Amino acid sequence: MTPDDLARLHRAAFAFPPPWSAAAFATTLAQPAVFLLASPCGQAFVLGRVVAGEAELLTLATAPAARRQGLARGLLQGFDTAATTRGATTAFLEVAETNTAAMALYAATGWITAGRRPGYYHCPADRTDQGGQGRPIAALVLQKPLR
Ligand SMILES: CC(C)(COP(=O)(O)OP(=O)(O)OC[C@H]1O[C@@H](n2cnc3c(N)ncnc32)[C@H](O)[C@@H]1OP(=O)(O)O)[C@@H](O)C(=O)NCCC(=O)NCCS
Repeated sequence: MTPDDLARLHRAAFAFPPPWSAAAFATTLAQPAVFLLASPCGQAFVLGRVVAGEAELLTLATAPAARRQGLARGLLQGFDTAATTRGATTAFLEVAETNTAAMALYAATGWITAGRRPGYYHCPADRTDQGGQGRPIAALVLQKPLR
């Protein structure tokens, strides 16, 4: 997938936190520590980074029309393998605590809550999902040990 493909899918997948631009994807992908895994038809992707034995899941998205078909679950398995191959022994990510779909996915795939950052996100005033309407939303820090 190209940076334009990634930005398009990101925009379709969520409006909050703000989707990344194609330029942001291009800049991130240029980092040697970053890796991208995509589903065969380009309907989902995960972006990760491994630094000093620790993997970070930077972002993950499935196109709305392709959800609940196991694409994200499969990509998370691939993320674990790719991170381990690059020397990671643990992984972490940040997710809005109101993102119930992502929280269910991460709970189902072995991630555990390791911390909470109050007011980390500010939901736009016109968003009514994810507990929105302009109020601050906490980020949860999730961790997963990798074998
Ligand atoms: C979160 C997201 C990536 C899940 O993608 P997906 O491909 O639909 O997920 P999967 O089909 O692999 O789901 C695997 C499991 O996660 C859980 N899950 C996924 N979406 C869920 C939802 N909307 N509600 C409840 N559980 C959900 C379920 O346990 C599911 O297994 P099941 O379908 O057998 O019940 C997708 O909803 C998305 O792109 N959301 C917007 C972007 C986002 O929030 N990214 C993550 C934060 S960075």
